[in-house]
Amino acid sequence: MNVENIKQVASIGGGVIGSSWTTLFALRGLKVCQYDINDECIAKCVENIDRNLDSLIEFGAIRAEEKEAVKANITYTTSIAEAVREAGFIQENGPERLPLKQNILAEIEAAAAPDALYASSSSGLLISEVTANAVHPERCVGGHPYNPPHLIPLVEISYCEKTDPQNVQKAKAFYQSIGKEAVILNKECPGFIANRLQLAVYREMIELVMRGVCSAEDADKALTFGPGIRWAIFGHNMIMQLGNPGGLKGMMEMLGDGGDVWLADMADWKHMPNQEYGEIAQASVDEMMKNFPDEVGHTNPEIARYRDKMLIEILKLHRKF
Ligand SMILES: NC(=O)c1ccc[n+]([C@@H]2O[C@H](COP(=O)([O-])OP(=O)(O)OC[C@H]3O[C@@H](n4cnc5c(N)ncnc54)[C@H](O)[C@@H]3O)[C@@H](O)[C@H]2O)c1
Repeated sequence: MNVENIKQVASIGGGVIGSSWTTLFALRGLKVCQYDINDECIAKCVENIDRNLDSLIEFGAIRAEEKEAVKANITYTTSIAEAVREAGFIQENGPERLPLKQNILAEIEAAAAPDALYASSSSGLLISEVTANAVHPERCVGGHPYNPPHLIPLVEISYCEKTDPQNVQKAKAFYQSIGKEAVILNKECPGFIANRLQLAVYREMIELVMRGVCSAEDADKALTFGPGIRWAIFGHNMIMQLGNPGGLKGMMEMLGDGGDVWLADMADWKHMPNQEYGEIAQASVDEMMKNFPDEVGHTNPEIARYRDKMLIEILKLHRKF
């Protein structure tokens, strides 16, 4: 199956992630068959997709008159067999439980074309585990999105020794054809790439706040208006490249062992102090919310709306809308 021939896709599980993938597939002109377990779950999925499209319209990413055409690309079913029968690409977004994902894959395999590509959205399970009992593991990859996939371009493709390398490239080409920025993990790795990077930064933020060096509010401000604003444009390797006339290599030579003192002092704990940190940081985050300008808002839904609006502005600059 060549990816340019993929016109019909399936989305299995229509919760937070599935409804967002379906929004994207349909926006990009693909026919999507959305599976969920019952009519109630499907009704929630329809609502999510409607809300996704309305906010894209509100923030100028698509025109209001496009909405009905996008919705017309989507059909819904409570039969996995029906969802996957005609699909060239199957995105699985079921609950994060290994036996369940394995059962879903078995149901998919019983009805899908043998060359249909399968990608699991799983955040925490390795593709070698999900496909342990698969009949056609060669066409299976991990396709881990960043939430919400209809907005955040990243998708992390992972594979295992049973995956056909050509199918890894096909999955990449498919995702690129719908505007995703696909990265490939050449070895299986828990947490994949982006969540590990995020956790490394968050561990140090927690350390700084728990040591009393700064408030949670100031740790956020330092990230947002310092490295974060650059990271919305380039990754850190490119930032290093631009920081020295000798490029990244020159920068590494210039830094020498200058970072070692910091590293020796930085967090290296292996257990998240979740409860303790929640107790310490919540008051500071509440203060931050109180201090936002009124046009941003002060409640979670108001601030999330502002985040989405800003996200779309950044995506427009990246020519993703
Ligand atoms: N939420 C996130 O931020 C996020 C980010 C990236 C990846 N993921 C991954 O995406 C997947 C889905 O997560 P979510 O947050 O959308 O969960 P969710 O609970 O919102 O959605 C799961 C959906 O699966 C449906 N479902 C239940 N049983 C099913 C079955 N047997 N077969 C198919 N579907 C079934 C549920 O009805 C529900 O609609 C998980 O594997 C998760 O790790 C989540």
